[in-house]
Amino acid sequence: MSKLTTLHEFIMDRQSDFPYASGELSRLLSDIAVASKVVSKDVRRAGLLENFLGAQGNTNIQGEEQQKLDVIADNQFIQMFKSGGEVCGIASEENDDFMAFESDFSKQGKYVVLFDPLDGSSNIDVNVSIGTIFSIFRRKSKAGESATLEDMMQTGDEQVAAGYVLYGSSTMLVYTTGRGVNGFTLDPYIGEFCLSHPNMKMPETGRLYAMNEGNVNICDPGIKEYIKEKCQTILEGANRPYSGRYIGSLVADFHRNLIKGGIYIYPATTVDPEGKLRLLYECNPLAFIAEQAGGLATTGHERIMDIKPTKLHQRVPYFIGSKTMMEEAMSYLKTE
Ligand code: AHG
Ligand code: MN
Ligand code: MN
Repeated sequence: MSKLTTLHEFIMDRQSDFPYASGELSRLLSDIAVASKVVSKDVRRAGLLENFLGAQGNTNIQGEEQQKLDVIADNQFIQMFKSGGEVCGIASEENDDFMAFESDFSKQGKYVVLFDPLDGSSNIDVNVSIGTIFSIFRRKSKAGESATLEDMMQTGDEQVAAGYVLYGSSTMLVYTTGRGVNGFTLDPYIGEFCLSHPNMKMPETGRLYAMNEGNVNICDPGIKEYIKEKCQTILEGANRPYSGRYIGSLVADFHRNLIKGGIYIYPATTVDPEGKLRLLYECNPLAFIAEQAGGLATTGHERIMDIKPTKLHQRVPYFIGSKTMMEEAMSYLKTE
């Protein structure tokens, strides 16, 4: 067997890609890997531990019921960011407001992290894949001062790194710093993430579509037409229609489509007129990865990473996936 490259080795080797880098981003990525190993361990044992499964008993600012593991994962990542020294503040899907870290040590941190500590909460209690999604920006405010809202409200194009951890049948960490996408599998025997999916490319087209089809009659009728005519019809040269696959954890649905080729759709609906998914914690980071892998991510009308955020917990309609499928789906949408 050839020698495995650990995530740590990989990050260190890549540091020279950034001529003026002083190692903080590398350390931050390593910190995220460490926190995610702890969360992965908690997720793996949750069914056996008291106080790990079920609802926490309160709702977050977005009116969604918090699960105990949402809060456990949130705290784990926040503790890591607070103690690492690279991050001056964070914003998390689970907290009402952004958090500026006020110690002199943290105030020197160059970066802010925006994250969804646990994506796919409805799947936690039923042993289905869930994940963590993160987005890293350089701060706008001055080092030594408190992080500001402006640090958090940057467009997707300003991300310096983004990634996700998937707690699936294995735990994987996938990330980009704008130079391609690489995937690492957690080897439970040695407790290290090891390079398993170098230079990931999203197939230009695919045969998988993912949408909560319960919503098909309460969204843009163009989506229903697209699904009927392109996904549920036997197209020329094929012997069967596309396959519908919907896990209900964005991170898992996206990961599958990244590897196999496919499209994921969460449109605006009459119930959620702005869409359901969050621009800053979910849509931007996965859009960065998709584009780096050759795919596309839009609201149906606008490129995700062009959007200037107007509020921290902003939601947007979301279409993400293989380039050709995305272009085809977009052509069905009615003009705004
Ligand atoms: P979260 O668990 O972080 O709140 O995110 C849930 C999101 C996303 O992961 C998933 O794709 C989507 O909600 C599922 O929504 P529906 O249940 O409406 O299909
Ligand atoms: Mn989520
Ligand atoms: Mn979440």
